[in-house]
Amino acid sequence: MVQDGHHVSVMPREVLEYLNPQPGQCFLDGTLGLAGHSVLIANEIGSTGHLIGIDQDQRALEKAQERLSSFKGRLDLCHGNFSDFDEVIKRLAVSKVDGMLFDLGISSFQLDDLERGFSFKSNGPLDMRMDQSTSLTAKDLVNRLAENELADLIFKYGEERLSRRIARSIIQYRQQKSFETVQELEHVIFNSVPISYRRQKIHPATRTFQALRIAVNKELDVLQTMLGKFDQYLKPGGRIAVISFHSLEDRLVKEKFRELSRLGVIEINSKKPLRPGEDEVKINSRSRSARLRVAERISCS
Ligand SMILES: C[S@@+](CC[C@H](N)C(=O)[O-])C[C@H]1O[C@@H](n2cnc3c(N)ncnc32)[C@H](O)[C@@H]1O
Repeated sequence: MVQDGHHVSVMPREVLEYLNPQPGQCFLDGTLGLAGHSVLIANEIGSTGHLIGIDQDQRALEKAQERLSSFKGRLDLCHGNFSDFDEVIKRLAVSKVDGMLFDLGISSFQLDDLERGFSFKSNGPLDMRMDQSTSLTAKDLVNRLAENELADLIFKYGEERLSRRIARSIIQYRQQKSFETVQELEHVIFNSVPISYRRQKIHPATRTFQALRIAVNKELDVLQTMLGKFDQYLKPGGRIAVISFHSLEDRLVKEKFRELSRLGVIEINSKKPLRPGEDEVKINSRSRSARLRVAERISCS
């Protein structure tokens, strides 16, 4: 188990096995987080290796820097979005890498920081930005979008079947006062759904919060941008591993991998997504919904 503070890296054994980092290789971690996976990769590529880490959260980068302080190889940690990973590696005079990892979504470190507004268990501000240098927050969306726009967003990104009802309640609340905190939104959602819905396994606000987070961070757009170009930056035999946590992300990865495989650009190493074992789920409940897909570059264009 790889753990730092509260964040436990997901499927570390499988990531290492499939990415198979070797001494002297160059790896890109596009979602560095607290560097749990990166530390494992660094151990394998060793003092002749090159590790490039990207995160859009400045605080995560600072923590990752500490965790990687004993790495003797070349280390480049960059603040930015993985959708721009090609610009980052070009700046570092790297043309192609031996492996790439994208462990999507937020880390427990971000979820547990009540000021960030990711968890409906907090009473922090409705923020949800992974990159705090950007301006759009969840508060802006819930206070500004029209009812039908909100309903569509909650339906599309949250796959929430009660999206219209929830959007209507948000608008009604907004007529009295603007939303400021996570708890205001959580209460409005909770009170807008039928009692049977409140008794379900997941909290009735879960899907709406997922939708807002995806929209604030443009998570599907940036994933699509990365998927549209990663193959050009992998050496032949180099591998990409993507861990996703909901079906919208996983579908994009699956479809892109299939398309590139049909074109003879990559070979898919995981016909079905790899899932965490029961033991891992017991220790780390966050891993429950994880799906890992891996592909290998097979030809050069
Ligand atoms: C699930 S955590 C990664 C955890 C890491 N693999 C570990 O083992 O510690 C995801 C991290 O990726 C970052 N992130 C998510 N989407 C990103 C994006 N589009 N560009 C850059 N960083 C991103 C988040 O800020 C967060 O720190």
